[in-house]
Amino acid sequence: MSFGRGTLVAVVRALVTPFKPLVEALAQCEAGLSAAWAASAHHRLMLVQWGLPPVPEHFDHSIDIFYLWRKTRNPQGIERGIFGGLALQGGDVLELACGDGFNARNFYSVRSKRVVACDFDFRAIRTAKRKNRAPNVGFVQADIRNDMPEGLFDNVVWDAAIEHFTPAEVTEILMRIKTRLRAGGVLSGHTIVKRADGRKSLSYHEYEFRSKEDLYECLHPYFRHVSVFETIYPNVHNLYFWASDGTIPFAPEWPHVITGRTLSVPLQDEPRSSTRTSPSSLPPPSSPRV
Ligand SMILES: C[S@@+](CC[C@H](N)C(=O)[O-])C[C@H]1O[C@@H](n2cnc3c(N)ncnc32)[C@H](O)[C@@H]1O
Repeated sequence: MSFGRGTLVAVVRALVTPFKPLVEALAQCEAGLSAAWAASAHHRLMLVQWGLPPVPEHFDHSIDIFYLWRKTRNPQGIERGIFGGLALQGGDVLELACGDGFNARNFYSVRSKRVVACDFDFRAIRTAKRKNRAPNVGFVQADIRNDMPEGLFDNVVWDAAIEHFTPAEVTEILMRIKTRLRAGGVLSGHTIVKRADGRKSLSYHEYEFRSKEDLYECLHPYFRHVSVFETIYPNVHNLYFWASDGTIPFAPEWPHVITGRTLSVPLQDEPRSSTRTSPSSLPPPSSPRV
């Protein structure tokens, strides 16, 4: 007689269930110890990478996940993946200046057919291939000033990198991005606002935007629709952008949002014949909430 895996799991579960409080305490202990170890190991990794020259041009986001987020309670390291992910269309993605590949793998790949992620630094591509491989992500070494990957894409992502280029380079890259976007494709990305004391946030930065208006002015000559928004944390002022000739997230016609429209869809627990109209708490349709 042979036991399947399901039978074995059922037997183990039946034996262990009476001892759940003890087993859970042991599991919590192991998880706590390993989290503390992972945090201190990633702190040391950060000290080596950023304390000894030469400093890298990209950040290894495993340090965010295992050390910095826990220490600072600041989630800004993962915001770009979330906001960029809102613009995904489920098709082909080109990520420019992908760094360690963390966002390509953890935010862009699972809701896309394919991701081509490029960076001109072989160390970034080496880290990306080692730490952030995924079946539908291809990491390639390419300088986007003169060797941007060919093809047509539904999304182009340019996270934390527009500030690494001179205004003249940004102009050329934006024109090239337009040739890579399918009709209705979206460019998304992140950058930071220049510090109040005028000092560069990173020596590699060529041009840091002064405000969301400054970034908007840079993007809007190339796209019919541009949205720039900010998040402000104690030590960093982030800017995010979506730009497209088609629909950008949270536009009234974006299929994933309802903004103060009259609803004509029956609620699930209401009789079929009844329809729902604007609750009185919503503003009238003429003043959509965005
Ligand atoms: C701050 S990192 C951002 C990495 C990643 N996008 C992220 O959000 O974490 C900037 C990246 O731009 C890359 N980069 C700078 N100039 C580039 C160029 N001409 N072509 C391609 N990548 C470039 C750097 O190597 C670096 O990985």
